[in-house]
Amino acid sequence: MIAITAAGGTTGRHVLAALSSAGLPVRAVVHSSARADTVRAQGAREAVVADMTNPGELPAALAGCSAVVHIGPPMHPREIAMGQNVIDAAGRAGVEHVVLMSVTHPQLEPLLNHQSKLAVERHLLGSRLPFTILQPMHYMQNVNVPDCLSRGRFAQPYSLDRPLSFVDLADVGAVAATVLSALEKHTWATYELCGTDTLTGHEIAEVLTSAGGTPVRAEQVPLHAVLPEGAPDHTIDGFTRLINHYDRYGIRGNPNVLRWLLGREPTTFAQYVRRELN
Ligand SMILES: NC(=O)c1ccc[n+]([C@@H]2O[C@H](COP(=O)([O-])OP(=O)(O)OC[C@H]3O[C@@H](n4cnc5c(N)ncnc54)[C@H](OP(=O)(O)O)[C@@H]3O)[C@@H](O)[C@H]2O)c1
Repeated sequence: MIAITAAGGTTGRHVLAALSSAGLPVRAVVHSSARADTVRAQGAREAVVADMTNPGELPAALAGCSAVVHIGPPMHPREIAMGQNVIDAAGRAGVEHVVLMSVTHPQLEPLLNHQSKLAVERHLLGSRLPFTILQPMHYMQNVNVPDCLSRGRFAQPYSLDRPLSFVDLADVGAVAATVLSALEKHTWATYELCGTDTLTGHEIAEVLTSAGGTPVRAEQVPLHAVLPEGAPDHTIDGFTRLINHYDRYGIRGNPNVLRWLLGREPTTFAQYVRRELN
């Protein structure tokens, strides 16, 4: 049995779908009980509710699992503690392998979300548990294709001229399934998962226009327009640092490792857009 934490979130759903399609048995660990039925419908054999900030709830969530895929909630003030709790509980429960969902370039420490991933990676390396670390790039799924096409607008809170690389979460899920189907080949590995496209905001709008057949213009919006309502200070600070970084530098990665793991070309942004429209 393979446990997936944050299984009801965006990343979790894609990993769950890929593992289920590969015939791997999954126990979905969810936070809110309302998600338990959803993850079962999406292919999880079992669903358990646990709060990762509470170490006392994790032994039962991981009992009997041979591996765990840990996904931390994004920009959460306690993301590091949650990762440490899951890794510690995995060790105590006799879990044999941890797959950690991190991020490309976790060493970008001024970014709070990267800082959290780096701290959890370090904790995993010190745990003595066999591991595979997956480091996905900025998700294509951050671009809501139907919404952009219906509004005729693609909005982002940083310069429309900065280049950003992307990865499709379906490719990330496929890699997780490959790794978990042959753990002996992927133990002690850290894999950067990045697609082939590096696009500016203007280029994203061009792809949306051409694939959707309707004009989409790119627009830079202020940070507060994209912040989650009522977010804690850590989350606001995290988004502020991320947006400032993207605004100055963009973010880039290399697709070689993803291409090798998939055994094919990674999904392009245009292919992602067309898939979202079907
Ligand atoms: N977006 C990107 O481009 C990108 C790229 C690379 C890496 N990442 C990383 O990918 C990770 C996952 O992001 P995502 O977009 O999939 O997140 P998401 O959709 O917001 O899902 C996060 C999940 O965490 C759960 N959760 C929150 N608090 C919890 C707690 N105390 N205990 C247990 N579960 C809890 C939530 O469950 P409930 O809803 O039930 O509360 C939710 O399902 C993040 O660490 C992010 O930094 C993102």
